[in-house]
Amino acid sequence: MTPHLQPPVERVLFTEEQIAARIREVAAQISKDYQGRTLKLIGVLKGSIFFLTELARHLEVPVKVDFLAISSFSNKSGAPGVVRIAKDLDESIEGEDVLLVEDIVDTGFTLRYLLQTLAGRAPNSLAVCTFLDRNSRRIVQVRLDYRCFEIPDRFVVGFGLDYNQLYRNLGYVAVLKP
Ligand code: IMP
Ligand code: MG
Repeated sequence: MTPHLQPPVERVLFTEEQIAARIREVAAQISKDYQGRTLKLIGVLKGSIFFLTELARHLEVPVKVDFLAISSFSNKSGAPGVVRIAKDLDESIEGEDVLLVEDIVDTGFTLRYLLQTLAGRAPNSLAVCTFLDRNSRRIVQVRLDYRCFEIPDRFVVGFGLDYNQLYRNLGYVAVLKP
């Protein structure tokens, strides 16, 4: 069997049905909050594309989409939190209502860096929507405007989240066997 057909799953946290239902709820809230405006969704490659696609399909306001990619690494002393943009947006966000779409917010380093960078480009507004929130591991405090699920302190895969680039295409979110 190919690995993605039989991933070493310990337990499923959220099923396809639960994910679909929750994304519809969050999309309805966002549609309400941005009524009358055009929303620029910014996806952080690669993890967020699965969530962004599903979310965008249920939004009832006009939507534009752009992507950026980041790479994060530890510094020499092993401390995490060094982030840089590996692929920038294609278009300016000046004057736009921007919703940054993340797969997961963990320590918060990535999100803080992205918010600082994007805020410096003069958007009309800047908000955050994350699929998963592992709040128990937060090191830097960041504001989450929308979130689908909070998860326990376990490594998860599926619905965009990978382990060594595998399992992003699972329709559910699962904890891997250690
Ligand atoms: P942080 O919030 O800066 O610590 O980093 C979040 C990033 O780490 C996410 O965008 C993911 O790429 C990755 N990540 C964190 N936790 C997990 C996980 O449980 N599964 C897969 N990727 C994860
Ligand atoms: Mg990511």
